[in-house]
Amino acid sequence: MLEAALQASEAAGLPPIAVTANLGKLLNLLVRVHGARRVLEIGTLGGYSTIWLARALAPGGELVTLEANPHYAEVALANIAAAGLADVVHLRVGPALETLPELAGEGVPFDFIFIDADKQNNPGYFEWSLKLSRPGTVIVCDNVVRDGAILDPDAIDPRGAVGAVQGIRRFYELLGAEPRVSATAMQTVGAKGYDGFAIALVTGQQ
Ligand SMILES: C[S@@+](CC[C@H](N)C(=O)[O-])C[C@H]1O[C@@H](n2cnc3c(N)ncnc32)[C@H](O)[C@@H]1O
Repeated sequence: MLEAALQASEAAGLPPIAVTANLGKLLNLLVRVHGARRVLEIGTLGGYSTIWLARALAPGGELVTLEANPHYAEVALANIAAAGLADVVHLRVGPALETLPELAGEGVPFDFIFIDADKQNNPGYFEWSLKLSRPGTVIVCDNVVRDGAILDPDAIDPRGAVGAVQGIRRFYELLGAEPRVSATAMQTVGAKGYDGFAIALVTGQQ
């Protein structure tokens, strides 16, 4: 099903920017280790990481995933349904900075949050993730190394995303200064080159 989701995404013209299989598996393991029942994903694409995450949900769990592009969302919904996960995955279409406040208004925190959308908005996604958290929530943010470009404040993103390096740097500043989280970042080298992810535990302690 995971391979089929990638193939269907490629056939529908989606860019090949899903997580690698080993990061997908790591996300799956983290959700299982945590015993998470409510998972939030920011950035669905064709639903590849969504399937890894949703398969890991504890019984009775649900996953909300946010995607700005209606065509990508349509492809993702088909892939999610083919994987037998339509009942537990809820996809909201629209810019995440508009759908996140709606979720916050609903007032039910998430156990696990995966940030993987437009990197220039990572600072906003992190702030909304905190609002949607409780002590014990785990937040994972992908692509926080970018071939090492994040070391240079004037760097142009090696993958061409405008403002990505600056958005990631600002995300680190917020993460480092935030007393309610404890976090680290891991560098990875793999099928999609040199990058990494950050992982934060919301402790709630000031
Ligand atoms: C790296 S891809 C997500 C990959 C996916 N998590 C996976 O591994 O299968 C980033 C996604 O974020 C979406 N995106 C970009 N800007 C967005 C925004 N402002 N709000 C919501 N989604 C956005 C893109 O359309 C794209 O599908």
